[in-house]
Amino acid sequence: MSRIDKLMAQMTLEEKLGQLTMTASSYAVTGPIIAGDSTDSIADGTLGNLLNMVGTGPTHEMQRLAVDKSRLGIPLLIGLDVIHGHRTLFPIPLAEMALFDPRAWELTAREAATEAAADGLAMTFNPMLDVSRDPRWGRTAEGPGEDPWLGARLAEAKVRGFQTADLARPDALAACAKHFCAYGPVMAGREYASVDISERTLHEVHLPPFEAAVAAGVASIMPAFTDLNGIPMTAHTELLGDYLRGKLGFEGVLISDYNAIGELIRHGVAADLVEAAALALNAGVDIDMMADAYRKGLPIALERGLVSMAQIDTSVRRVLRLKEQLGLFDDPYLRGSAAEAPEVVAQRRTLAREVGARAIVMLKNDGDTLPLAPGIGKLCVIGPLTDNGPEMGGCWGAAGEPDKHVSVLSGLRQGFPGTEIVHAAGTAIRDDDASGITAAVALCDGADAILLCIGEAHNMSGEAASRAYPELPGQQRALTEAVLARAQSLGIPVIAILFSGRPLVIPWLAEKADALLAAWFLGSEAGNAIADVLSGKVSPSGRTPMSWPRALGQVPIFFGQRPSGRPMNPDDFFTSKYLDVANDPLYCFGHGLSYGRFAYADLRVTPDRVSPADAIHVQVTITNSGARAAQDTVFLFTRDPVASVARPLLELRGFGKIDLAPGESGVVALSLLASDLKFLGRNLAPVFEAGDVEILVGPCADRAQLLSAVIKLR
Ligand code: GLC
Repeated sequence: MSRIDKLMAQMTLEEKLGQLTMTASSYAVTGPIIAGDSTDSIADGTLGNLLNMVGTGPTHEMQRLAVDKSRLGIPLLIGLDVIHGHRTLFPIPLAEMALFDPRAWELTAREAATEAAADGLAMTFNPMLDVSRDPRWGRTAEGPGEDPWLGARLAEAKVRGFQTADLARPDALAACAKHFCAYGPVMAGREYASVDISERTLHEVHLPPFEAAVAAGVASIMPAFTDLNGIPMTAHTELLGDYLRGKLGFEGVLISDYNAIGELIRHGVAADLVEAAALALNAGVDIDMMADAYRKGLPIALERGLVSMAQIDTSVRRVLRLKEQLGLFDDPYLRGSAAEAPEVVAQRRTLAREVGARAIVMLKNDGDTLPLAPGIGKLCVIGPLTDNGPEMGGCWGAAGEPDKHVSVLSGLRQGFPGTEIVHAAGTAIRDDDASGITAAVALCDGADAILLCIGEAHNMSGEAASRAYPELPGQQRALTEAVLARAQSLGIPVIAILFSGRPLVIPWLAEKADALLAAWFLGSEAGNAIADVLSGKVSPSGRTPMSWPRALGQVPIFFGQRPSGRPMNPDDFFTSKYLDVANDPLYCFGHGLSYGRFAYADLRVTPDRVSPADAIHVQVTITNSGARAAQDTVFLFTRDPVASVARPLLELRGFGKIDLAPGESGVVALSLLASDLKFLGRNLAPVFEAGDVEILVGPCADRAQLLSAVIKLR
């Protein structure tokens, strides 16, 4: 008889329901504890899982309670939101997507897992895989951006990075793909609002990243808070049961979001906690996070015949199996048994600096304003994010150490040791006090360049942080326009550095600044990363993973739209357009400048007649005509112009990178399988249709900048 069989045979109902419950410990690092102090429950074996705690001391103390005090000694599963680093913070996920580098995504997850496991943790509630095309939604910051194919590549990389091939390793974390599914298109971009999308959009856009996570072996999945077309995801039997468990064969643990089972009552699909618990268990949710619905509701649901003991046993077995896979039974104290050496942490910060620099997207650089001359005499740095290390951590800095984040000012002082640097906040991030603007503007005089450090606070994106006006908050636009006016009168170049968890609507700034950098929130080494790019030590290579709207009215805006029967035609009034703004974004998906200047030529696609089993080989020659070495990212798209359903104008199928010295040319070779060109037919079943397909290659999702060739599918 296996260990799990033996335990199952001994467990009381209360002990079983304890294994299906996750709550905060008395060490919770986040707000009020809904379920109260859980230490007694741990000691009496009626609580099996904890969240929101860090540190070997507290985690091992709770573990000892479970292992030594409780009747069966089942070890605890302890999880935390390790979203973009643990104590050492990397760029927020949306920023990290700008690297377009799955190896880097895996590496930062590996480093975060190592650091979190050293703190006694065995699970992270990550990767977040919610495709988003709406910058009003604050959680855009946490996700993969606007494209499902890219989201799938992120899923694979993060599951590998967090879990490795052996969950029992002392530095492995169980990953949790979230939030299943289609949380990104919340109504009007408003957090937690209802989601109403077509089955086609669900299957073409929002499910693929989760398919990839399951295929990569993700240990757990978290349903979204939201309802999908009227059915709350926490109770969505078709998608949690038939699709995830049935079609995809997912055998891992389904863990509810925070109190989400209890919230089925507010959704209006459960009259009380008993019905809520029954709905969730019947849908296949194994662990109840923070609602205490399973412990309180399932005994009554059993009596009422709403659920069966067999269902409870199935969920308990999944949880015990995950704990066994993590090696928790063999050594509950393995994670956190050895402190990390200082040089290991130092090396991790070096990685954070490198990844930070690569996450920066240079949106504009007129007149080669950047990089700044190394011997530049005087820099004037203005804005509320200038001398603000803690803000650099971004959303979900759970165990991050804000006092150790490198501010822009500190990074500049280290990066430009011989430069005189004057600075002023000018205004706060979001209050309406404009009294500091005049003094700040006066600092511009005599400067060789002006840096604006402007944007959002770290908590203006992330969870519960939707914005109806995703622009510069507070008085920052007034400050910026005053500085721009002064700079123009003095003939001083202005470099605007934007800090945000989303694309901001800033057409006026894009027009007036000489250079514009999207610095998102870069984490612990933000200031150094920014200085490395400004000084030219690192050539910016980031590419935006989301379209930047010209106007909020364009939202949702993304490159993979369908053509419409009346596509925009400037010579025809009755075509798809706005009266007051162009259709295209201010900056399209994939846009990002470097210190090089790249040209594309000689696209070759072979074979030009393709059967489903064939591989399609693509190559393009890229030349750097700029004066500096730089890295380029080249994207591979397809377009299916005639099919049984209207197909997107562009579909992302791959990307490649190349480093080129000034004047150097090189060839980027990409490939895709013809079978990847299947799509969901009218009945949403996969089809492969003969006909012409365009293969397009270029620097971003702007068709005017792409080289194309046509192949025939047979
Ligand atoms: C939060 C989030 C989820 C997170 C969980 C635990 O409300 O929705 O992403 O993992 O609760 O903190």
